Formats: sequence, structure tokens, C-alpha cells
Amino acid sequence: MTGASRQTEVVRAAPAKINLYLKVTGRRADGYHELDSLVAFTELHDVLTLRPAADLSLTVEGPFAGTLTDQTDNLVLAAARRLRAVLGHELGADITLTKNIPVAAGLGGGSADAAAALYGLCELWDVDAAGVDLVAIGAELGADVPVCLYGRPALVSGIGEQITASPALPAAGVLLVNTRRPLATPEVFRAREGPFSEPPPFDHAADGVAGLAEALVARGNDLVSAACAMCPDVGEVLSALERLPSCRYAGMSGSGATCFGLFDAASIAQDAARRLPEPGWWAAATSLRSKPAG
Ligand code: C5P
Repeated sequence: MTGASRQTEVVRAAPAKINLYLKVTGRRADGYHELDSLVAFTELHDVLTLRPAADLSLTVEGPFAGTLTDQTDNLVLAAARRLRAVLGHELGADITLTKNIPVAAGLGGGSADAAAALYGLCELWDVDAAGVDLVAIGAELGADVPVCLYGRPALVSGIGEQITASPALPAAGVLLVNTRRPLATPEVFRAREGPFSEPPPFDHAADGVAGLAEALVARGNDLVSAACAMCPDVGEVLSALERLPSCRYAGMSGSGATCFGLFDAASIAQDAARRLPEPGWWAAATSLRSKPAG
């Protein structure tokens, strides 16, 4: 199944995801929450560079290298160790992670890194990725890893492991904004109050960005109140995005604290970024990803 590494270097993009909507539909006995969410990927991405080596090692660089917790850091190495255990070999890799996606921000950066590591190591180690149950490995690493392995817009249910193709999404500009304060996902889920949602099936094939916005208004994100209670900045950022004249829709991604605005084009999102009220906020103008990530 595996041979000695023939590749001298493998480079993989690990794109940030946004939850265009997120409904919490229940809670399992193990504490995990059941979701109904529309996930899309953006052009903003971390980069993994993998080279053959005797052992496994990880170097982190880039704008958010300094904010990595051990946990996120370890997701790439944890992915590598699990894959190695499944394959039953001891090949190594020197992995460099260029961290462009903010950490603990609702953008699934750690999960995207883990997914990119699994695909990248298969390539480096000359393993047929289709012959390995990467989704099973990914699901053990984190609830968002399966959709990151899928790498295309998706409707996600269960705790994140049930994935179906999304109806077609329009090309849209995206402005990602947070105030640089991290939010811990487990705490936001714990702080959520009220009944669970029972959303009808989402079968909207969006007619342009305005059509998508209309469909999203009816869904929203069930974790916004909890996130705002823990981090009032979220409300401030959402209001600032909503005030931008060209913004079609403003929402929060995942458990926050990053919020996103949708625009008719990336260039419009870029212009809008210049109008944000606080120069100290983190902001990235990007667009929905047109190509699969995997
Ligand atoms: O699996 P992952 O590491 O992404 O999840 C982090 C934490 O977020 C979980 O331990 C759980 O507390 C919460 N979570 C949840 N329901 C989900 C996903 C995450 O309650 N569907």
C-alpha cells in the first residue's frame, strides 16, 4: 500500500470555512450538539508544506503562528500519527504550516489543517487516499474535519459527519472580520440556551448573492446569542458589517467570533473592508472558493 516517498515536496492549501447558516437541532448523550449547517469554503487558506523525513515534525510560521495553542498545533501531528497507525508504518515528514487563518475563530482552520495534512501525507507517502478511510480518521480528530476533507460547499448534519452536496452557490465576495479575541467552541455550545431548532430542509438554489442572502436571513446562526454574551465584540462586528452599504448579508461563522459579510464580488468586499470602523480589527476580504479543496 505504501512505498518509500518519491515526492520531494508536497504543498497543500487548507481553506477557511464559513457556516453560512448554523442551526442547533439537538444534543447527544455525549454532550456533542447536532447541527444543520450550510458550510462553504473561502479563498483564505493556510498552507502546509510537507517533505520526507525520518520522523514527524511540525514548524509553524505566518501571521497567526504565535497564537496557536498546543491543541490546534497538535491537530496536524495528531492527524499524521493516526494515519501512520492506520497504515502500519513509521514513515515521517517535516511539515511546515503557514498559519494565515485566525485560531479559535469559528473558521475551522485547525480542522482544515488536519484535512490537508491527511491528503498531503498520502501524497508524500505514495498512498492511494481513496483506499484509506480518511473520514473516519478525521472524525476522531474533530467534528469539522470530515467537511474539510469533503472540501466543497456542503449541507452538514449529525455532529458534522453527515455531509451532502450543497445546492449551487453563487460566486460571492466575502469579508471576514473579528476583533482578534478568541472564543472557545465548547464554552459557546455550553452557553447556548433555549429550545432546539427544527428547520425545514434547505433546498434553495440561490439566485445570485441577493437570493442567497434572502435564504440565509430565514436561517441565521443559533450560537450568536451565546457568543455575544461571552464576547460582546461579536455584536459590534455584526452591526458594523450590516451598516456597510454594499453588504448583502452579515452572519457569524461557527461558534464565532469571526463574522462574515457577503458581497456581489471580492473587489466590493475589498472596498468595504476599508470602511470598517476599527483599524485594529482583523479583516480579510476574500471570496467563496470556486475549486474543491481536497
Ligand atoms: O470536535 P471539535 O473539537 O471540533 O469540538 C470541540 C468542542 O465543541 C466539543 O468538545 C464540544 O464541546 C463542542 N461541539 C459540540 N457539537 C458539535 C461540535 C462541537 O458540542 N457538533
